[in-house]
Amino acid sequence: MAYNLLKGKRGIITGALDANSIAWKVAEKAHEEGATFVLTNAPIAMRMGEIKVLAEKTKSEIVPADATNIEELTTLFTKSQEILGGKIDFVLHSIGMSVNIRKNIPYVESNYDYFMKGIDVSAMSLHKMLSVAKKLDAINDYGSVVALTYMAAQRTYPFYTDMADIKAMLESIARSFGYHYGKEKKVRINTVSQSPTKTTAGTGIKGFDDFYNFADSVSPLGNADAESCADYCITLFSDLTRMVTMQNLYHDGGYSSTGVSAEVMAKFGE
Ligand SMILES: NC(=O)c1ccc[n+]([C@@H]2O[C@H](COP(=O)([O-])OP(=O)(O)OC[C@H]3O[C@@H](n4cnc5c(N)ncnc54)[C@H](O)[C@@H]3O)[C@@H](O)[C@H]2O)c1
Repeated sequence: MAYNLLKGKRGIITGALDANSIAWKVAEKAHEEGATFVLTNAPIAMRMGEIKVLAEKTKSEIVPADATNIEELTTLFTKSQEILGGKIDFVLHSIGMSVNIRKNIPYVESNYDYFMKGIDVSAMSLHKMLSVAKKLDAINDYGSVVALTYMAAQRTYPFYTDMADIKAMLESIARSFGYHYGKEKKVRINTVSQSPTKTTAGTGIKGFDDFYNFADSVSPLGNADAESCADYCITLFSDLTRMVTMQNLYHDGGYSSTGVSAEVMAKFGE
């Protein structure tokens, strides 16, 4: 059911790689809720071509940009305003990549070049986007920026390796930039801490399926799926949350507040 929550709003949505991507669902919902937006991803991800299907479905244009490249981000924000006919109201940062995870390198043996790459792609890219947007004055008053994160930023999950530290940095950038951008331009910046979700980035993590099932049995509501994450992001883009900023918001079916569930206890009693 659509509520027209984003009627007349203009956005930029990063990170829709395929139909499993959280960003893909956000784009579908934003379209249903009346927004117009530009889709973007790293040029290398574009070559896979699936994003075109989403662009057609949501009547959106695609502007490729590597989120680590200031020039490409400048083009993204400039072109998006031209295409959409005005300043931007919402931005989704849905970008994550760790070469250490991809190569199955244990945390304590992290390769530092890969670590730096992970920081640049998955955390610093948020700073770069915000800095470019602010310089161009590309975001409207009370505009909303949401970045997706994971609870390994607060608690240790051994298999999440360097991404845990990188997500901690991402969340900190949301708070720090949120202060400055809020003071000067009333732009809001929040992170959404999402349940394990079956996407390309998610399932790339070693032992993902076991952990997915564990989290599902701990959370009173079960794991939150990509579609419900998209619904939550839409509320954060809408005016209904216009005073919410600099927050890390858990979207995890109650997982983060649960010590142990009866189901998990029962397994130890077997
Ligand atoms: N899947 C999960 O379990 C889970 C849980 C919590 C948070 N998240 C976060 O959600 C976000 C989206 O991930 P997803 O699970 O939808 O997976 P996904 O693999 O579908 O999306 C990751 C996206 O990042 C893009 N990307 C990588 N390098 C880039 C670059 N240099 N420039 C621009 N884009 C680049 C990829 O092309 C891809 O579209 C990530 O930040 C991820 O860490 C995922």
